[in-house]
Amino acid sequence: MPTNTAAWINAGGARLEVGPAPYTRPAADQIVVRNHAVAVNPLEWIIQVAGRLAYRWLTYPTVIGSDVAGEVVEVGSAVTRFRVGDRVLGHAVGTDKDANRAAEGGFQHYTVLLERMAAPIPDTLSFADGAVLPLAVSTAACALFQSDQLGLRRPTATPESTGRTLLVWGGSTSVGSNAIQLAVAAGYEVVATASPRNFDYVTSLGASRVFDYNSPAVESEIIAALQDREPAGAVALGETSAAACVRIVGASRGNRFVALATPPVSFAHLGGPDRGRFAVPKLIARLVGANIALQIAARRRGVRTKYIFGTTLKANEVSTLVYRDFLPRALAEGRYRALPKPTVVGHGLGDLQHALDLQRKGVSAAKIVVTLD
Ligand SMILES: NC(=O)c1ccc[n+]([C@@H]2O[C@H](COP(=O)([O-])OP(=O)(O)OC[C@H]3O[C@@H](n4cnc5c(N)ncnc54)[C@H](OP(=O)(O)O)[C@@H]3O)[C@@H](O)[C@H]2O)c1
Repeated sequence: MPTNTAAWINAGGARLEVGPAPYTRPAADQIVVRNHAVAVNPLEWIIQVAGRLAYRWLTYPTVIGSDVAGEVVEVGSAVTRFRVGDRVLGHAVGTDKDANRAAEGGFQHYTVLLERMAAPIPDTLSFADGAVLPLAVSTAACALFQSDQLGLRRPTATPESTGRTLLVWGGSTSVGSNAIQLAVAAGYEVVATASPRNFDYVTSLGASRVFDYNSPAVESEIIAALQDREPAGAVALGETSAAACVRIVGASRGNRFVALATPPVSFAHLGGPDRGRFAVPKLIARLVGANIALQIAARRRGVRTKYIFGTTLKANEVSTLVYRDFLPRALAEGRYRALPKPTVVGHGLGDLQHALDLQRKGVSAAKIVVTLD
């Protein structure tokens, strides 16, 4: 049995601590991957600082981490798509309620992955490149393709235009970068928002127009741009995105649906040194208040909204659509790009806390990655 090591969280709010971990063998529909690169997401520091406020089922010690890339070292008895030695990327789901299992977390040397949440990566991509994709592509795919979300047409190698336009608010985020690419591959025109420094980046992903979300005129400009289009709804990414998307979609024709990725209040200060005694109750009160206001605004405009949970695809056909049918060929043929590019900030599990702290301070069209041996 290989010797495993993990970056553990031993209690709610605790910092990562590197220590020994068991090597866990795969179930029939799982593979074990020796990780060579892991990426960090807002989700990971949110789970770290908010603990059971965000993930109330979590048992400690736990191993967080969603994005891994590495080599397959063992396959379950029912696995047909992978062999030992294959280079793969995968979405680790260890902190999900139905898993709640350290062996399935990303921040360790050996991670147990569901076969249907992993994809081969071509030789042209490094492990650091591969690690930027999983949670972001999963979340974008849940928003776009699940029937309880936007329910859009599926991506193909030769997309035919649907004649419809999707709004991606937060096009330079990791999730937005994938939402744009997936929507274009499914035949949708995409209009997006970003800071002006990222306009070229967002256009290079396939968006036809990009608007500055910090401009006071942004909503009226997007409403005007959608006037002669048939809107397909919106994906809302970023703290201020939900209310803006509800107002824009509410003022447009077409699909009156907004897929919500981001709660309207920030968890970032919870992990800071100035966290006061009443930080948690205050946050909950603001969260409830902001969500009620959002629902009232949506109802008044006849707009439906739903929060995305970026792992729900594992229980439906969207996981195989993305990780088996679309992504492997699209990556190999260069039709899909592993973006935003990795910014490698360390090497080894001991650098993961630094990586999380950097992600919490904020990034711009970049994915923070730590490489492992
Ligand atoms: N519900 C889920 O399952 C799920 C899963 C994954 C992510 N998320 C959420 O989705 C959001 C995106 O995640 P991510 O990992 O893709 O983020 P990320 O890459 O860390 O986001 C960084 C980007 O955020 C953009 N940004 C900052 N404030 C914004 C705003 N108010 N409106 C639009 N864009 C803004 C910045 O754009 P500029 O630099 O161009 O200004 C920057 O490029 C986060 O809120 C995250 O918590 C939810």
